[in-house]
Amino acid sequence: MTVTRLEIAGYRSVKRLVLPVHPVTVVVGANGSGKTNLYRALYLLQAAAEGRLARTLAEEGGTPSVVWAGPREHKKPVRMTVGVTLEDELAYELSCGIVPSDPSEPGTLFLLDPEVKEEHLWALSGGRRAVLMERKDRTAFLRDSEGKRVTFPTQLWSAESVLDQLAEPQRFPRLSELQRTLKAWRFYHQFRTDLEAPARQPQVGVRTTALAHDGRDLAAALATIYEIGDRRGLEKALDDAFPGAELQVEAPQGRFSLALRMPGLSRPMAASELSDGTLRYLCLLAALLSPRPPPFVALNEPETSLHPDLLGPLSRLLVEAAKHSQIWVTTHAEPLAEAVSRRTGYEPVRLVKHGGATEVEGPASSEE
Ligand SMILES: Nc1ncnc2c1ncn2[C@@H]1O[C@H](COP(=O)(O)OP(=O)(O)OP(=O)(O)O)[C@@H](O)[C@H]1O
Ligand SMILES: [Mg+2]
Repeated sequence: MTVTRLEIAGYRSVKRLVLPVHPVTVVVGANGSGKTNLYRALYLLQAAAEGRLARTLAEEGGTPSVVWAGPREHKKPVRMTVGVTLEDELAYELSCGIVPSDPSEPGTLFLLDPEVKEEHLWALSGGRRAVLMERKDRTAFLRDSEGKRVTFPTQLWSAESVLDQLAEPQRFPRLSELQRTLKAWRFYHQFRTDLEAPARQPQVGVRTTALAHDGRDLAAALATIYEIGDRRGLEKALDDAFPGAELQVEAPQGRFSLALRMPGLSRPMAASELSDGTLRYLCLLAALLSPRPPPFVALNEPETSLHPDLLGPLSRLLVEAAKHSQIWVTTHAEPLAEAVSRRTGYEPVRLVKHGGATEVEGPASSEE
């Protein structure tokens, strides 16, 4: 199920934003314009489905710090909302507030936790929407597979999503479909390429169909593509980026290591010797040519430390990956955004800040 629309309100620099989402969406904008905030908002949905919502928000500084810090309209309560529409069939929305901290009334110690205030799942058809799940505070109602409205059988805590507590998938098939979809999304924020990066060291490996978020299992992931994936595609994409280069993966005693043979050198370069940009590009190849492509993959600034000459190959790699997955990319690199847009026909989403709030520049307005 692909995402067709994203709606965010009250989250970090996003006061309110509604965005059509395409099979390939490239988000560009200056430093601080809010690109990563959009990426993070999508990540929060996955965190909610996996039971990591409170932890994820805590790692970002806690719920009180991530809610929109600008003035609120009519002194409305502090709320952040993230919603997605999938295939114009299902719409899900999660709305959180903060734990009230009243010094005169000592309450919980968990002041960084979110309070899930509302959650909704709607079935969409012909411009109408029917409620499939409705949660207010700790109570939720669902339509079961027979269309009966039932109370959610599990007691919900304030920082939990209904998605994480779903126990009877066959009884609530659409909710379970949403949960499975969100869990299958993949996010790549930053591949580690520093000298101690795990991708530079031999790693015990197993068949790896999804590269880890930091690229630690790069050698095993590339070997998996060679063995059970699109070997030709990988070789072609590698040659597109590094003409004449050849990958070598070895695994003595199951410890996988990687080397790159390059024209003009008499021995292959080990992963520990590769440049940051080269190692990062190999991570991009492994992530985007996965033999089990996810429904949705988001990359934050994939052009980091790449030479401008690699932006062409990267744009082709992204477009190739879009045959199997929906792609979301945030980038500073205008040439990358332009190149992808030329190949896909989807205009880049350009973000700007107005009065501290992230907005979409140009004809696609922030308010639909
Ligand atoms: N709670 C908040 N309320 C309002 N604005 C916030 C809040 N938290 C963060 N911001 C703003 O969000 C902006 C950062 O957004 P983000 O990290 O998405 O930028 P970016 O476009 O990814 O930038 P870069 O290109 O530097 O990575 C900063 O300007 C910061 O001031
Ligand atoms: Mg950023």
